[in-house]
Amino acid sequence: MESVIGACTRPTWARVFVLFTLVTFLSLHLPSRPVWLLTGPPPGPDEPTCSAFFRAVPQRKLVMSIEDFGGVGDGNASNTESFRRAIRYMQAFQNRGGAQLNVPKGTWLTGSFNLTSNFTLFLHRGAVILASQDPKEWPIIEPLPSYGRGRERFGGRHISLIHGNGISNVVITGENGTVDGQGKMWWELWWNRTLEHTRGHLLELINSDNVLISNLTFQNSPFWTIHPVYCRFDPFGYFQFGNNVVVKGMTILAPLNAPNTDGIDPDSSTNVCIEDNYIESGDDLVAIKSGWDQYGITVAHPSANIVVRRISGTTPTCSGVGIGSEMSGGISNITIENLHVWDSAAGVRIKSDKGRGGYVANVSISDIRMERVKIPIRFSRGSNDHPDDGWDPKAVPRFKDILISNVVSVNSTKAPVLEGVEDSSFQGLCFKNITLHGVALSAKWRCEYVYGFATGVFPVPCLELRNNSYSSWCSPT
Ligand SMILES: *[C@@H]1O[C@H](CO)[C@@H](O)[C@H](O)[C@H]1NC(C)=O
Ligand SMILES: *[C@@H]1O[C@H](CO)[C@@H](O)[C@H](O)[C@H]1NC(C)=O
Ligand SMILES: *[C@@H]1O[C@H](CO)[C@@H](O)[C@H](O)[C@H]1NC(C)=O
Ligand SMILES: *[C@@H]1O[C@H](CO)[C@@H](O)[C@H](O)[C@H]1NC(C)=O
Ligand SMILES: *[C@@H]1O[C@H](CO)[C@@H](O)[C@H](O)[C@H]1NC(C)=O
Ligand SMILES: *[C@@H]1O[C@H](CO)[C@@H](O)[C@H](O)[C@H]1NC(C)=O
Ligand SMILES: *[C@@H]1O[C@H](CO)[C@@H](O)[C@H](O)[C@H]1NC(C)=O
Ligand SMILES: *[C@@H]1O[C@H](CO)[C@@H](O)[C@H](O)[C@H]1NC(C)=O
Ligand SMILES: *[C@@H]1O[C@H](CO)[C@@H](O)[C@H](O)[C@H]1NC(C)=O
Ligand SMILES: *[C@@H]1O[C@H](CO)[C@@H](O)[C@H](O)[C@H]1NC(C)=O
Ligand SMILES: *[C@@H]1O[C@H](CO)[C@@H](O)[C@H](O)[C@H]1NC(C)=O
Repeated sequence: MESVIGACTRPTWARVFVLFTLVTFLSLHLPSRPVWLLTGPPPGPDEPTCSAFFRAVPQRKLVMSIEDFGGVGDGNASNTESFRRAIRYMQAFQNRGGAQLNVPKGTWLTGSFNLTSNFTLFLHRGAVILASQDPKEWPIIEPLPSYGRGRERFGGRHISLIHGNGISNVVITGENGTVDGQGKMWWELWWNRTLEHTRGHLLELINSDNVLISNLTFQNSPFWTIHPVYCRFDPFGYFQFGNNVVVKGMTILAPLNAPNTDGIDPDSSTNVCIEDNYIESGDDLVAIKSGWDQYGITVAHPSANIVVRRISGTTPTCSGVGIGSEMSGGISNITIENLHVWDSAAGVRIKSDKGRGGYVANVSISDIRMERVKIPIRFSRGSNDHPDDGWDPKAVPRFKDILISNVVSVNSTKAPVLEGVEDSSFQGLCFKNITLHGVALSAKWRCEYVYGFATGVFPVPCLELRNNSYSSWCSPT
C-alpha cells in the first residue's frame, strides 16, 4: 500500500518527466485511437470543461421509438416488457452501428430495465419514465463485492431502475425529459423500518466505459440517484486513461428530507467528469466513494481522476460535496471547484472511520461559495458504521495533501470542525484564502489529528494548521 500512497504525492519534476517519456514512448507503439467526433461546443478559455472525458460516438444506425415496441405513454399501462424487448432488439445492433431508443412525450410507467452497448436512450421534451411501485419490478441482485452486502441490509439489494453492467459507449440524454423514481414508498419503508433489502438506485452503471449522462431531470430516486461503480476497465486493451463517465447538465431533485437520496456517487471509478449540474436532495449532492471496510480493502478499486465542477444546490442535513465515508479502496487526484451551496449542513465534508483503511490523497477543493451553510468545512469520523463484525480496527485510513482554497461563506454558524482518525493524522493540509462570515469571532476551529498549514484564513485557524513544514507548497500566492 505504501507504493500506492507514494504515487499520490505531489509530483517531482523527475517523476513528471519519467511519466511523460513513458506515455510518449507507449503511444508510439500503440494503434491510433478510433476517430471520435467531438461532442458539444469546445470549452471557452474562461470556462474549463472535462466533457471530453466522454469520447463522442457516431450517429446510431438504428433509431426507433418505445412505441415501436408496444409502449403506451398513458402513465398507467406497464411498459416493462416494451423496454426490455426494445433493449433485446437493439443489443443486436451494438456491433452494427449502434441503436437509439427514443421516448416521446408522455408518461411511461416501467419496472427496471438494462441498457446495452453502443446505445442511446433519448427522452424528448415532456417524456417521463415513471418507476413502478411494485418491488417485484426491482428484482434483487448480488451485493457489490466492495461492500460485501447491501449498503442498508444484509444480502442482495434491489436493482436500479435503469441498469447497465459491462457496457460501453452509452448515452442517456434528451431534451430535459424526466426519470421519476417515485421513491416515496421506498423512503417510507426505510422510515418505518420494514425495508427488507437495500433500496435501488435510479441509475447504476457497473463496470462500464465511455458513458454520457446529460440534459435530463432525474427525480425521487429511492436511494442514491446516479451510481457509476467499477467504471474503470479499458475496452481497447491499450494504455490510456479510459473508462470515462460524464454527468453534465443534469437536474437532480428529491424532497429535502428524502433519506439517502444522494445526487451523484462515483464509486471505485476513474476519469469521471461531473459538471454543470443542479442538485437538491436529502443527502450529499455529490459523494465520492470506493468501498466499505474489509470488503473495499480487499477489492482495492480506487476512485481517481475525478472532476466535480460548477455544481449548485442544497441539502439541509448533508453536504455539498462529500468524500467517503466509504473510501476503503482509496481516493486520489480529485479536483472539486466552483461549487455554490446554500442552506445546507456542510459545504465540503470528508468522512471516514477506523476500519476503513484506504487513503484520501491529492485533493484540491477551490472556489466554493456558500450561504447559510452551518459548518462550511467538516472532516468527521463515522459513527460505528461497519458492514459486519469482520472489520479491522487497525485498518486506519490515511489522508495526505488536501488543499482547500478560495472559499467564501456567508451566514455560517460554526467554525470548521476537523476531526481526523486516531492513529492516522491528516498530513499536508493546506487551507488558503478562506473567509467565513457570520461565525462568532470567539468561535474556535475544532481540530483533532490534523496537521497542515493555513494562510489568509478567517477566523483564525487552530494551532495544528500553523505548521510551517508545508509552507513552500502551501504558499500564499
Ligand atoms: C445539452 O443540450 C444543449 C442544448 O440542446 C446542447 O447544445 C448540448 O450539446 C447538450 N449537452 C450534452 C452534454 O448533451
Ligand atoms: C390501468 O392499467 C390496469 C392494469 O394494466 C388496467 O387494468 C386498467 O384498465 C388501466 N386503467 C386505465 C384507466 O387505463
Ligand atoms: C461499439 O461500436 C464500436 C464502433 O463504433 C465497436 O468498435 C465496438 O466493438 C462496439 N461494441 C460492442 C460491444 O459491440
Ligand atoms: C439486468 O442485468 C442484471 C445483471 O447485471 C441481471 O441480473 C438482470 O436479470 C438483467 N435484467 C434483465 C431484464 O435482463
Ligand atoms: C429541466 O427541468 C427541470 C425540472 O422541470 C427544471 O427545473 C430545469 O430548469 C430544466 N432545465 C433546463 C435546462 O431547462
Ligand atoms: C411502511 O411503509 C410502506 C410503504 O409506504 C407501507 O406499505 C407499510 O404499510 C408501512 N408499514 C408500517 C408498519 O407502517
Ligand atoms: C489527475 O486527474 C486529471 C483529470 O482530473 C488528469 O488529467 C490527470 O492526468 C490525472 N493525473 C494523474 C497523475 O493521473
Ligand atoms: C494531483 O491532482 C492534480 C489535479 O487535481 C493533477 O494535476 C496532478 O497530476 C495530481 N498529481 C498526482 C501525483 O496524482
Ligand atoms: C480569494 O478567494 C476569493 C473568493 O473565491 C477570490 O475572489 C479571490 O480572487 C481569491 N484571492 C486570491 C489571491 O486568489
Ligand atoms: C445573512 O444574515 C443577515 C442577518 O440575519 C441577513 O440580513 C442577510 O440577508 C443574510 N444573507 C444571506 C446571504 O443569507
Ligand atoms: C507538523 O507536521 C508534521 C508532519 O507533517 C508533524 O509531525 C508535526 O507534529 C507538525 N507540527 C505541528 C506543530 O503541528
